Amino acid sequence: MVAVGVVVIAAAASVVSLSAVSQPGLAGGGSSNNGSSSRWAIAFPQDTVSFAEDVAPIFRQRCAKCHGAEDEDGVRAEAGLMLLTYEQVMAGSEFGTVIEAGDPEKSYLLEMIVEGDMPEEGDPVPEEEIEIIRAWVEAGAPNN
Ligand code: HEC
Repeated sequence: MVAVGVVVIAAAASVVSLSAVSQPGLAGGGSSNNGSSSRWAIAFPQDTVSFAEDVAPIFRQRCAKCHGAEDEDGVRAEAGLMLLTYEQVMAGSEFGTVIEAGDPEKSYLLEMIVEGDMPEEGDPVPEEEIEIIRAWVEAGAPNN
């Protein structure tokens, strides 16, 4: 358990430093129609959202506990959905795909977090993180 916690913190920290430090020149490139003061949403115009650096850390931090992480009882994959790797995310759940590349409206995973149905326990996904995931789906859900 300790090891998992460390990985999550390191991943979250890398997202913050990336947006704050590596891409300062891009501020203002995104459209901020949601009124939030999110630094992330502004710092990442659509075509630069990275699955590995921006999206995966959100899933690791907020979803992996029930969708992919391993505990004493084995790997936990609620609804057959695992969210640790790109392949797992795109493979979807036992009921089918949860990401429709290029179409946020048809992506069930987005609907679940927008409606607040996921995560099933704990804090809802903040608006700026939802925007990162939406921008990634809109960009065609690339494996980048
Ligand atoms: C505390 C455990 C828990 C956490 C954390 C959690 N989930 Fe789930 N998730 C579940 C359970 C249980 C189900 C199956 C029952 C249901 O659909 O409500 C589920 C189902 C889903 C489904 C539906 C799959 C399908 O095809 O029906 C999606 C999509 C999903 N989760 C996404 C997420 C995302 C994205 C996160 C992180 C933001 C997340 N979940 C975090 C427990 C969790």
